[in-house]
Amino acid sequence: MTKLAIIGGTGLAQMQGLTVTRREMVKTPFGAPSCPLVYGELHGKPVVFLARHGSRHRIPPHRVNYCANIWALHSVGIEHIIAVAAVGGIHEDCQVGKIVIPDQIIDYTSGRANTFFDGGDEPVEHIDFSYPYGEVLRSALLAGAKSAEDVQVVEQGVYGATQGPRLETAAEIRRMANDGCTIVGMTGMPEASLAAELGVSYACLAVVINAAAGIDGKAVNTAELPAAISAGMDSASRVLNAVVANTDASIS
Ligand code: HPA
Repeated sequence: MTKLAIIGGTGLAQMQGLTVTRREMVKTPFGAPSCPLVYGELHGKPVVFLARHGSRHRIPPHRVNYCANIWALHSVGIEHIIAVAAVGGIHEDCQVGKIVIPDQIIDYTSGRANTFFDGGDEPVEHIDFSYPYGEVLRSALLAGAKSAEDVQVVEQGVYGATQGPRLETAAEIRRMANDGCTIVGMTGMPEASLAAELGVSYACLAVVINAAAGIDGKAVNTAELPAAISAGMDSASRVLNAVVANTDASIS
């Protein structure tokens, strides 16, 4: 059974190198996932791919049905999720083009359906979320990033998850930097905690596509984003291919 899923974000609506075998629209108690699950093989290993923003990239971060996406993957037997995300760089080490494998998250989102333990007949449940990312999966990502060509990787980071869809103000980014955030994105939560609630290991492959608002006194130049996304997602694909090629049976 396929145990590894890749959630593709902005700029990664399809997985390069994936030989597609079938597509399946999974029904969940939370409604429809962003799109059908794409089953296939990468380097001869079974992988499921899900485009977070839909196949045509029409679902904004605050409208993604995170509950349905994570539930759907879990319901078909997925045990490990690599989540690809485009992010802004806050820390000076996290420049455009770098890949960051975060080890912590701070949640600044609001109003999103963010738990499977939402009352009703079930007893109240509080999961431990001290270390939000799966260490085995993080190590696999780090090893893949180091073996992939032309990839510069930052081995740790704190992902600040904002609500969007607007980008942040310079003061918001200053506050996030003071909080310890090194990168900023809009999809890291509640995706990570929903995976944790279902016992699915989850790690993030973050691609820095811009300097965050106000870094070096500059606004975000949105005209430069498409080229940065395309170059960044090429690097992400090289890392994913290396990770899957190297994975052992415990992940695939
Ligand atoms: N802020 C929030 N989300 C993002 C950014 C950013 O600067 N860049 C890419 N996703």
